[in-house]
This record gives sequence, structure tokens and C-alpha cells, in this order.
Amino acid sequence: MNILAEKRILLGVTGGIAVYKSVEIVSRLVKAQADVRVLMTDAAQKFVSPLTFGAMSSHAPVTNLWQLYEGEKIGHVTLAHEADLFIIAPLTANTMARLAQGIADDPITATALSTRAPMLLAPAMETNMWEHPATQANLARLKDWGATIVGPEAGRLASGASGVGRMSEPAVIVEHARLILGRTGPLSGLRITITSGGTREWVDPVRFMGNRASGKMGVALAEVARDLGAEVNLVYGAMTVPPPMGVHLVSAERAEDMLNAVMALLPETDVLISAAAIADFRPVTTHERKLKKGVGEEIRLERTPDVLKAVGEKRRKLGLPRLVVGFAAETDDLIANARAKMEKKNLDMIVANDVTAPDAGFGVDTNRVLILTRDGAVDRLPLMSKEDVAFNILHRIRGLLGTPSIGWDPGVGSVLS
Ligand code: CTP
Repeated sequence: MNILAEKRILLGVTGGIAVYKSVEIVSRLVKAQADVRVLMTDAAQKFVSPLTFGAMSSHAPVTNLWQLYEGEKIGHVTLAHEADLFIIAPLTANTMARLAQGIADDPITATALSTRAPMLLAPAMETNMWEHPATQANLARLKDWGATIVGPEAGRLASGASGVGRMSEPAVIVEHARLILGRTGPLSGLRITITSGGTREWVDPVRFMGNRASGKMGVALAEVARDLGAEVNLVYGAMTVPPPMGVHLVSAERAEDMLNAVMALLPETDVLISAAAIADFRPVTTHERKLKKGVGEEIRLERTPDVLKAVGEKRRKLGLPRLVVGFAAETDDLIANARAKMEKKNLDMIVANDVTAPDAGFGVDTNRVLILTRDGAVDRLPLMSKEDVAFNILHRIRGLLGTPSIGWDPGVGSVLS
């Protein structure tokens, strides 16, 4: 599942020192199989040669307005009409002003005026230029017309001074592109709460009881659900990967914190997916001071709350979530144990994996899972990336909710059993 695949993305590059970073934007988009067309102003070409962008995108960049008219079709109209997204990065104060006035005298402004594709703008300029009322007024106008603005960030500028004006990092700009493209996706309108990572139960101020969860599966679910248009809450414990952008984040360290966070979100949750490895036990006492040798050799444990069980009870009164999905990490009798958990916790679906397999489960980027549903079906998925596992899970969730599959292509980047 990759929202950028086969999308037509225009990248307008205007003249600022950050142009070199735009090369990385192209590289990231192309790696994600997007069809990227670059348009450059004269000033941009003074910083980086069109050759570089041409080689990266496999298409000669459009470098002047007249070149747009050389093909069989009227260039900027065709580019503009076929585009799924128009990114301008870096966006100088000058081009921003011309966009805000509806001027169309270079390939970028002319195409911007003729497209109905969403605009993603990444301004980059000197701090005083950014703060000038003229620039701020132009910015407000462009926002008003629906453009998404990313950055600029504070930091060291080309002049050597520090301040606001740096273009956002390519990875951040590409994440925004994914967010915009996902807005109208097949899961739009669905509110999904996902738990992810592992909990920590504190023994004393320096020691905790934790587990091997990396959070990769929960983060993949959050990213894919977001890219498909869902509104996502991510309740996360300890993770080795950063939480994604564009989702509502709630951090929760202990099982108790996870319970409180999930319960608070229930009234606005259509689907709950519990991918977190939540501790089953915690120390009866959390010591305020570090335990010394001879004192802490025996730690008494008690049960933590079972989050899914509590959700099951609340769900009956609330009518929400409409669907609850759990995970089962097992070392033996995978199907029997997973089925028993689904029954016991009153789940609609359970995703089971054998955590003894070296290429699946904790910490790795791939997973091999079974998806069990209440109708008795068992889907055995082959080894695949956690993103593809996430896509498969969300696809089945959509099926269980009974929503028609308009615009839904389960085949993209995934293997369905
Ligand atoms: N889970 C939960 N609350 C807990 C423990 C687990 O909500 N205190 C959730 C997990 O997020 C997962 C599912 O329950 O979705 C199953 O977790 P797992 O650890 O496999 O099962 P347990 O119920 O803990 O049973 P056991 O450890 O005996 O296998």
C-alpha cells in the first residue's frame, strides 16, 4: 500500500538556496513510484541545473513558459489538469507574491493558475522577508484559497543568521504530500484508534518491566489508515520508531495509562485496533528510591487492567467502537489460542502471529500473520512488510463494516489470500 504510487505530482522549484533539498524530494517521490514532473523558474536554474532534476525524475523539467506549448497538447493545461498534487518547494517570497496575485508569467505560476489539484507550498526565505506584512498577507490569501503550507522552520539560514525561514526537510514535505492525497481516501470519515508499542511498569526510578515491542506494526497501521483517509488516534507506549505525522498522538506509558487513554477516546472511535504489547503484570509497589542489592531481589507482581476487556464492557452501553480488533502474539497453538482470545475479549477480528519466527513479529519490518474473524474464517497471509499487513487488516475491517469498495484497490502493493 503506497498512496504515492502512480500519482501525478508536479514539483515547482523556485530560486532559493534550498533548491538542493528539492532534489531529495524528487528522489523520495520517485522511489515511492510517483510520476513526478518538475517545473523550474529561471532563478531556480541558477542554483541547480535542470539536468539534475531531469535525471532524477526521468522527464526533462519545464524551464520556460514557451516550452509548455511545444508538445502536441498545450503543456501547462495538460500538466495542470492531470496533476493529483502540485508542490512548490522551495517557494520564494517573490513567487508567493505572484501566486497570491494570480500572475501567470512563468511555468510555475501559469500551471498553478490552471490546476484544480491541491497545492502544497514549502516557503523558504530570509526571516525579515518572511515576517514582512506583505508576505504574511500573501500567505493568508493562499491559505484561504485552500493551499497547505509546510514550514518554514527556524534554524540557521544561508546568510549565517538564525531565524525562521528554512525550508522544511524533504521527508516532512513528502509526508504532507501523503496526507493531502489521503484525505479523500476510501476510509475517509472513519475514526480509528490504534494502540502501539510496549508498556513500561516501573519498579523504581531507574528500572521498569518492559517488553520487546517496537511499535512498527501499530505505526504502519496508523500510517496506512491515515493515507486511506481515516482520522487516526495513536495511543503509543515505548517504540523504536517515531510516531507518524498527521495523526492524533496520545502517549501512554503504563497499562493503566493506556486504559485511560483508550477509554477517553471511545466515544469518538469507530474502530479500535489494539496492536500494543500491554503488560499483564506490574509490581505491587513502585519504589520511590532506587532499590539496593539485598532489598529488591523479590518483586511482587499484580495484574494490570485488561484494556480490551474493559472496552468490551463499555462498548455494550456506548454502541462504540463498531469494531474491535486485537492482536495475539503466541509461541504455541497459534490458531486455537488466537480464537480463544477473540472469544474471551469479545473481538470482531484477531491478528495472530507466531513470535518465535525470526522474520516476523517483534522488532522486524516484516510480519507473517493469520487473520481470524468471528465467522470462523482464517486468512493465512504470506510474509510481507508490516505496511502490507496493515493494508490487509484495514481492507478486511472495511469489509466487516459492510461499506462498498468504491475506489478501493486491494491489489496495490499487497498480497491478498
Ligand atoms: N491486551 C489488553 N490489555 C492487556 C493485555 C493485552 O488489551 N492488559 C490486548 C493486546 O493489545 C492484544 C490482545 O489483548 O490486542 C492480546 O494480547 P496478548 O498479550 O497476546 O494476550 P493476553 O490477553 O495478555 O493473554 P496471554 O498473555 O495469556 O497470552
